[in-house]
Amino acid sequence: MRAATARADAAAILQAATFLREGRLVAFPTETVYGLGGDATNDLAVAAIFEAKARPRFNPLIVHVRDLAHAETLAAFNMPAHHAAARFWPGPLTLVLRRLPGARLSLLASAGFETLAVRVPAHPIAQALLREADRPIAAPSANRSGRVSPTEAAHVAEDLGDNVALILDDGPSPVGLESTVLDLSEEPPVLLRPGAVPLEALIELLGPVALTGSGSPKSPGMLASHYAPHLPVRLAATEACPGESLLAFGPDAPPGFAEVLWLSRSGDLVEAAANLFAMLRRLDRPHLTGIAVMPIPEHGLGRAINDRLRRAAAPREDSNSSPSPRKRAEGSKGPR
Ligand code: TXA
Ligand code: MG
Repeated sequence: MRAATARADAAAILQAATFLREGRLVAFPTETVYGLGGDATNDLAVAAIFEAKARPRFNPLIVHVRDLAHAETLAAFNMPAHHAAARFWPGPLTLVLRRLPGARLSLLASAGFETLAVRVPAHPIAQALLREADRPIAAPSANRSGRVSPTEAAHVAEDLGDNVALILDDGPSPVGLESTVLDLSEEPPVLLRPGAVPLEALIELLGPVALTGSGSPKSPGMLASHYAPHLPVRLAATEACPGESLLAFGPDAPPGFAEVLWLSRSGDLVEAAANLFAMLRRLDRPHLTGIAVMPIPEHGLGRAINDRLRRAAAPREDSNSSPSPRKRAEGSKGPR
């Protein structure tokens, strides 16, 4: 049975909220990517999220709330957190803060950590769902673990099928890249995941921000190989290899590729971010040998785009994946 997909009108939002309160999972649009939502106060619902994504271990989840006031009942807001929330919420910034002892939340949502990742999404459908469900929603990106994040309802149906009670469809995600994850639980702030809010904007507001490498225990979800299509991904490509497709950036693409999709012809990083995941999916087809990507500048949203591309290109850690990554079975066991 395929998951039901419904246009995100008032009736569908009401139905989705009812499913959430019953402990079932619902996929919904946010400004970044589609999320796989479950009631963050319900251990069984949160466990079902890990199960549906086939996450190999319990990475903590982002808890979505409707506003700052609700977030303040769950996590300890210090001065930097107040500044960041005032400037970027609602919006694509996730704050990692100390979890309040009395917070009514499934412990599994933060995977036993003393901190909590919390965000107030700006998307009107996400906002309407949060208000209707009247509870915090734990929501990772609505893809199978290790795959490219979904920026359309159809991507969710492809990846998660009948593991979700309802998919709310509101068209392509406007930003197309996940939220920036910023740890403010200690001094100085630490960037755990580059994302839709550029590092430059955080530094301007908060001063120095420390960076963390992948594999750091502070960023449990940031494994090297992640966001991966089935085909191998080759970065900073300047010429074609036989049978490869190309993700192009800027006006001129090198010749000889089997197929070319433009992240942005004008070299606009915002447009490129919005196209990235959908285009990776479109080029991930068995008659091609790989996906090459032209160089992307490392500033603004380019930092998050390059982060996702590096992970898509990283060596796959399961034995089936090399030397023919194309044969990798969906749901195979790499630590992603
Ligand atoms: O844009 C987004 O953030 C999307 C939409 C649906 O909101 N969600 C999303 O969730 O990308 P997910 O689960 O795919 O990524 C959550 C990231 C992971 O890298 C995880 O390790 C990190 O946030 N994270 C969550 N809780 C944390 C915590 N307590 N400490 C450190 N990192 C945490
Ligand atoms: Mg994800």
